[in-house]
Amino acid sequence: MLRPNERCVQVLYRVSALIISLCFIFIFLETLAAGIVTIYISSTFNTIRISNDVRNKDYEYFDHNSGSSVLSMKKKERNVDKVIIGDEEYEIIKTEENPVKMQKKSYITQAPHEDIPTSREEFKKWAVERRWKKLKLRVAEREKLLLTIDQSRWDTWACNECFYNKFEFINPSKNVCSIHRGMKGIKLLFVITTQPQNFNNRLTLRNTWLTLAKNNTGEIRYIFLLGNVSNALDFDGIRKENLIYNDIVIGNFTDNYTTLTIKTLAGMSWTVENCRSSKYVMKTDDDMWINTKRLLPMLSNFSKSFFVGGACLPDVKPIRTLTGTLRKFYVPYVDFQYKKYPPYCQGLGILVSSDVAEKVLHVSRDTPFFIFEDVYLGLCFARLRVRPINIPGFQDNSFEQYSKYYNLTISDMIGEKFITIHQAPNDVMVEAWNKTCK
Ligand SMILES: *[C@@H]1O[C@H](CO)[C@@H](O)[C@H](O)[C@H]1NC(C)=O
Ligand SMILES: *[C@@H]1O[C@H](CO)[C@@H](O)[C@H](O)[C@H]1NC(C)=O
Ligand SMILES: *[C@@H]1O[C@H](CO)[C@@H](O)[C@H](O)[C@H]1NC(C)=O
Ligand SMILES: *[C@@H]1O[C@H](CO)[C@@H](O)[C@H](O)[C@H]1NC(C)=O
Ligand SMILES: *[C@@H]1O[C@H](CO)[C@@H](O)[C@H](O)[C@H]1NC(C)=O
Ligand SMILES: *[C@@H]1O[C@H](CO)[C@@H](O)[C@H](O)[C@H]1NC(C)=O
Ligand SMILES: *[C@@H]1O[C@H](CO)[C@@H](O)[C@H](O)[C@H]1NC(C)=O
Repeated sequence: MLRPNERCVQVLYRVSALIISLCFIFIFLETLAAGIVTIYISSTFNTIRISNDVRNKDYEYFDHNSGSSVLSMKKKERNVDKVIIGDEEYEIIKTEENPVKMQKKSYITQAPHEDIPTSREEFKKWAVERRWKKLKLRVAEREKLLLTIDQSRWDTWACNECFYNKFEFINPSKNVCSIHRGMKGIKLLFVITTQPQNFNNRLTLRNTWLTLAKNNTGEIRYIFLLGNVSNALDFDGIRKENLIYNDIVIGNFTDNYTTLTIKTLAGMSWTVENCRSSKYVMKTDDDMWINTKRLLPMLSNFSKSFFVGGACLPDVKPIRTLTGTLRKFYVPYVDFQYKKYPPYCQGLGILVSSDVAEKVLHVSRDTPFFIFEDVYLGLCFARLRVRPINIPGFQDNSFEQYSKYYNLTISDMIGEKFITIHQAPNDVMVEAWNKTCK
């Protein structure tokens, strides 16, 4: 006979043994199921197949740098070089920066009832069309979200006169916006941020889409904006260049990649001082193609006041890791504590009505500095309760990405599809401009 104490111990022992074996059986069954249903690792261990129905949305994301879908992989899968998900094939691109990046090789997922062309050429066209459709959907989703975001939450991003936004202009080019008698008013002023060494970019722009300024008599006007050029040689070059073209403005701020926000506010300040007669102002860069001929007639469709438009994003999250291709956008928590940025329009092309330029300058005095100029403007827009609007044709990818994934052609550049394109090569811009009726 066992004593009650021993009996108790024995029962406990049996129960725990049972629980442990149940656990093992469960783990075994689950692994087996996962192996059969989801992942099949081929005998060479370098191809992974994942069945379509277990596709996890978090697993796949759109990579703005390559313009394609990318999958993030788990550590244990790092030694594979091909992944097949459903019927899509992914190629592994291993770089030192990112050892776990997969890029979609072919786009062969089939939506229900969708006919996929079988010939190679037809298939390419079909794939391009499909990407366009997806892009439009994405922009439409963003537009909806932009309308719903509560702007008042950004009221906390405030201070008492902490942003010093008074500037002097060493070379003010004051007559850029002069209006001669008998002339219609100015529709649009471009404030184009530039660097001393980008002479070829400036020349290309002057000879292409900026020719509509017609030596300060047209309905558009522009300035190239620089900070204080401390290098004497650069300064001399810029002054000589300006003697010829009369279109360069130099502000009394230090010009480097950390002062782009200050540069942008200096542009606003110059505009308010020297170009009040323009109805709209657009901040852009010296490596941009702007389809001005198409943009000008669009302006009449936009609100004349309280207007902000561009390629606007409602829900961008700050980059918190110092690795990967996006690390140059790294922002530590001490600089920005929120989960998401306010809605903002990409800095490559931000169009605002003149009153917004003035109001931003005013509100910025009490809006603490933030390193990215487009996000900073977003913070100001929110405090002003101006909702950014997506303008069709303002795009946030580069020329290369659009050529590669969207079959961008010269006729698209001057047609209805695009208003802004980043990093278009100078010769391509010249070719495109030659094709428009001058
Ligand atoms: C790309 O565009 C050109 C010119 O519009 C057209 O001829 C060609 O078929 C297009 N290719 C694809 C893959 O869509
Ligand atoms: C720029 O000029 C303004 C106005 O004169 C002045 O208050 C400010 O200190 C100057 N900034 C720099 C960086 O020199
Ligand atoms: C532009 O105007 C200025 C002064 O009005 C004049 O000196 C210059 O020659 C003009 N340039 C062109 C290209 O017409
Ligand atoms: C521009 O920078 C130089 C050298 O850093 C400095 O001596 C000069 O005062 C600056 N000019 C203005 C107007 O800020
Ligand atoms: C850029 O200029 C600012 C203002 O003068 C200065 O504080 C900062 O150190 C500079 N940054 C770089 C990377 O040169
Ligand atoms: C202005 O808006 C109307 C209505 O949405 C549209 O039909 C028209 O094409 C637009 N005009 C321009 C120049 O974009
Ligand atoms: C563009 O046109 C100019 C003359 O208007 C010509 O000299 C130049 O070669 C053309 N460039 C291209 C790339 O078509």
